[in-house]
Formats: sequence, C-alpha cells, structure tokens
Amino acid sequence: MHSLFSNYKSPCSVAATVAFAASVILLTSCTLARKNGDEIGEDANLRAQTLSVISESFETKGQATVERLNQDSTQRFCSTQRDLKNSTLSASSIHNTLQTQSISELMEKIRLENLAQIKPPADSNYFGDFKRGESIAQDGRGKTWTDRADSPSGGNCYNCHRLSKSELSYGTLGPSLYQYGKLRGITSIESFQEKLNSSSTDPIIQYTWGVLMNSKAFNLCTVMPRFGVSLNAQSKDHSAPILNEQQIKDLMSLLLDPRSAVND
Ligand code: HEC
Repeated sequence: MHSLFSNYKSPCSVAATVAFAASVILLTSCTLARKNGDEIGEDANLRAQTLSVISESFETKGQATVERLNQDSTQRFCSTQRDLKNSTLSASSIHNTLQTQSISELMEKIRLENLAQIKPPADSNYFGDFKRGESIAQDGRGKTWTDRADSPSGGNCYNCHRLSKSELSYGTLGPSLYQYGKLRGITSIESFQEKLNSSSTDPIIQYTWGVLMNSKAFNLCTVMPRFGVSLNAQSKDHSAPILNEQQIKDLMSLLLDPRSAVND
C-alpha cells in the first residue's frame, strides 16, 4: 500500500494508508476535495491505481460479478465531479470529447440520459397492490452472491425512508414518505379514482413513477438507487433492474392508495 501512495503526500493520503477499506473512501473524498485544474490528470492516475487495487481484491461469485465495479456515466460523474458542478473546468480526464463543456452541462446531459430510460407501464396501469408494496418496502434482500439471479429483490425503502406510523425502525437518509399521497391531495377513494383516470398526465403519478423507475433522472447524484432500469455498465446477463414493473406498481399503491398504511 505504501508504494502506491508514496508519490501522493497530502494529509489525506497519510490517513488513507491506515486501512484499505477506509482508504478507498478517503481517497474518493480527497479526490473530490481537490479543485485545481492541474490536479485532475493526477487524480485520474491515482483513481486508476485505486480501481486496479480494488479490482484485484474482488472476485466474481454467483451473480455478484466484478463487472459491478465498472461504472456507467452516472456513477463516474457522481464519484468524481459532482462537487465541481458549478465550475467551468474542463472535464477532459473523463470525457475527452467534452473538453469545453461545463460540468453543469455535462451533468444535465447525463441526467437527461437517465430521464430517457423511464418508460410508462406496458399496460398503462400504474398501480398494483399496496399490501405487496409494503412487503417490498420492508425487504432489503437481493442481488448478493447468495441470492439466485432470478429471484425477486426487495426495495429496502425503510432503510432510508419513514413510510408508516407503525414502523419505528426506519432510516432517515431520504425524506419521510409517511402520508405521501394524503399530503398530495389524495384523501379518499374518490380522489384516488380521479387520479387513476388521468394517470398518464397526472404530475404526481408521473413524478412518483419516474422517481421509482430511475431516481437519478431527477437528482443525478442522489443516493436513492435506480430501481426500475438496467445499469448499462453491467453485462447483459446481470443487468436486470433491482425491481420489476409489477413491484414498482405495488410500491406506487403503497405510496398513493388512501387505504395503504402510508396514508393512515
Ligand atoms: C439509500 C437510500 C434510499 C433508498 C434505499 C430509497 N430511497 Fe427514496 N429517496 C432517497 C433520498 C435521499 C431521496 C431524496 C431525493 C433525492 O435525493 O433526490 C429519496 C426520494 C424518494 C421519493 C421522492 C420524495 C419526494 O417528496 O419528492 C420517493 C417517492 C421515494 N424516495 C421512494 C422510495 C421507495 C418506494 C423506495 C424503495 C423501493 C426508496 N425510495 C428507497 C433515498 C433512498
């Protein structure tokens, strides 16, 4: 590890040598903290070295293949340049063809790529079963090497969001979604039915479907996973979205159906 970092004498790197796992996190944050244009090439070099150490440290097991380490444009942008988004520095180290493009323009371009991935439900019906939605929200299982690639994954929503009154153990990385539908005017079966009738144009239904399908289309570097789209950096065999269309419909009902525990 010392040879790897010997040419990099910032206080960050000293701390980074303490432990390998910590070093990956620290190096990423140190990279983000450095904003001088001259340092971008050096950062790219260090980043390549770090990635090579990480790749050598993992091996493919079951569906958890090392291909997961290959970042797509969204992940690459968010782990290298999100802090530079208000600057007009060249993005040359990562996107050679976009040297003169400002970081904000690049960010918007990638966000629009994410937006284009969102497709309406095949049968134009945006809703499913709110009870199944609750189970999906509670379930954090899936996509690990011990899971079968064809078994459905959970959504792990409670890990980041409050959703119901009764659940006391929830994460707070994301905003509370308790009364998500009620606070947006869906207070009765009748008002829900009205929404259903105009699903394809209703802004709340369209926005909620969009966030569940691909959260990065709204806030590119959000920590919320892209649940309904394939990640293009992964191989064909492993690119299935985390949740299938039916599961996303069930979650739509969990969030918007007035009978769901969310809208208690
Ligand atoms: C790793 C954390 C995380 C997980 C897991 C997560 N979310 Fe989120 N979610 C967020 C964050 C953070 C936001 C805030 C918006 C942002 O960052 O753009 C958000 C925003 C949302 C919003 C938009 C809220 C608003 O008022 O605009 C909805 C709806 C939502 N999440 C639903 C879900 C559902 C349903 C699940 C489970 C399938 C889920 N989230 C899983 C972190 C998460």
